[in-house]
Amino acid sequence: MIASDTSCDLELSRRKLLAAAGMTVMAAALIGTGEAETARALNRRSDPVRSPPVHGLHLQFGADASSEMVVSWHTLQSVRRPRVLVGRLDGKLERTVDAQETSYTDAKSGQAVYAYHASLDGLQPSSSHLYAALHDDAEPEFGTFRTAPRGRAPFAFTSFGDQGTPTIGKRYVPPAGVTIPKPPYVNDNLGSPAGSDTTLGVERLRPLFHLFNGDLCYANLAEDRVRTWWDFWTNNSRSARNRPWMPSAGNHENELGNGPIGYRAYQTYFALPTAGGQTDVTRGLWYAFTVGSMRVISIANDDVVYQDGGNSYVRGYSAGRQKVWLERELAAARDDRDVDWVVVCMHQVAISTVDMFNGADLGIRQEWLPLFDTYGVDLVVCGHEHHYERSHPIRGRQANATLTPIPAATTTDVIDTTQRYPTHGHRRRRDVASVESAVFQSAGLPRHHRRRCARCGHRQAFARVRERGRAVVGRAQRRALVRLRRIQPRSRITPWRLHHDHGHVLRRHRQRRGVSPV
Ligand SMILES: [Fe+2]
Repeated sequence: MIASDTSCDLELSRRKLLAAAGMTVMAAALIGTGEAETARALNRRSDPVRSPPVHGLHLQFGADASSEMVVSWHTLQSVRRPRVLVGRLDGKLERTVDAQETSYTDAKSGQAVYAYHASLDGLQPSSSHLYAALHDDAEPEFGTFRTAPRGRAPFAFTSFGDQGTPTIGKRYVPPAGVTIPKPPYVNDNLGSPAGSDTTLGVERLRPLFHLFNGDLCYANLAEDRVRTWWDFWTNNSRSARNRPWMPSAGNHENELGNGPIGYRAYQTYFALPTAGGQTDVTRGLWYAFTVGSMRVISIANDDVVYQDGGNSYVRGYSAGRQKVWLERELAAARDDRDVDWVVVCMHQVAISTVDMFNGADLGIRQEWLPLFDTYGVDLVVCGHEHHYERSHPIRGRQANATLTPIPAATTTDVIDTTQRYPTHGHRRRRDVASVESAVFQSAGLPRHHRRRCARCGHRQAFARVRERGRAVVGRAQRRALVRLRRIQPRSRITPWRLHHDHGHVLRRHRQRRGVSPV
């Protein structure tokens, strides 16, 4: 799961891209059915006055990520003949697939947004493709993608949530000598320059796909929601046109007036795999797809959380249908001999070290965790808390008012996700705050290697050397430094300042699935 996907180089030379960009030479390169139509499309002059450009080009996997991909973009006015030309990395575009239009009108501004989704199927596993998205009178926009492997194969994915936009909200500054009592917003985005860095960070790692754990751009807090989405897509299309960014809906995707429960914008921009129990109101809010031997399940937590974090309080909107679907989905994944890993992508968290931010939500511990335990979910990725942390593996809950999760192990280098409810230890009744050091990684350190944070007061792991995300202390430092120098022999960084983190190694039980540990 953590191995890099190096079997294909999707880097395109400028020469190839130019060749694919519809120059005269392109027409001669086209083969297959519809080549004349494709050539005409690419050679037709665009008319920027008559038609808006393709904007926010991005991808989504279909339910079978090895053979299905959806190409999406959007505009602020309806366009004619939206379509995708798909082909090979050498520039030959072989097939035309029509895109379907969907739209919403933002309740605050009255601005209509039109999204176009072209569903590609019948693709070969682990195959790389060049594609162009266009509509009449618009220049084509190009991207590449790679389908997922089928069966057990290494691949890489990335994950985070709560990105925002790189454009920071600011007000109009009038010329010298002019005074405006209440200057209007140039934009009122919530974001930071880091919103750009993270996009480029993903693209630099070139994962097969990215799991986006909700709260995409905070459009629901903006006066101009459509502009916020626009800026978000301008930024993220740089990566999401080359690899799917598969989302889960967070509380900031809840925009008052945009659909009965506020998710119409999110549902318009994304075309996600269909799932049971959904209506037009809940379409796309929960779904699953398979990559190799990993089943990914994305769920929408506003259905169960108690915290009121969106524009409107919508807890219980699926009337239990999402939970019914989730249990069926988890049971099916566990019964499937071809599935080794079950990964859940969601927004709000079941546990957290934070007590002055959003915090963990009891609703998740009540509704989801028993299912995760019963069906042995291996990994859960979340957002909502605006910092990085990872817990020890947890299985089971204490019988207290907060349903405090119980850590199943405290090792940090290898995690056996088949660990069940622990039969010893952690029997004292504790609340969430006092169990913090047992659930999170600082528990593995002696007391004199923990320091209290000057800002938040929490005790944190302190060590000059960190490896695989954990602090290394005492005599163990020497061996860690030897390993470190093997990895980076030419590094000029002094060892005690170098933090290298290759992530946890998640290991499944050999006998359970009959496969070797990853
Ligand atoms: Fe959130």
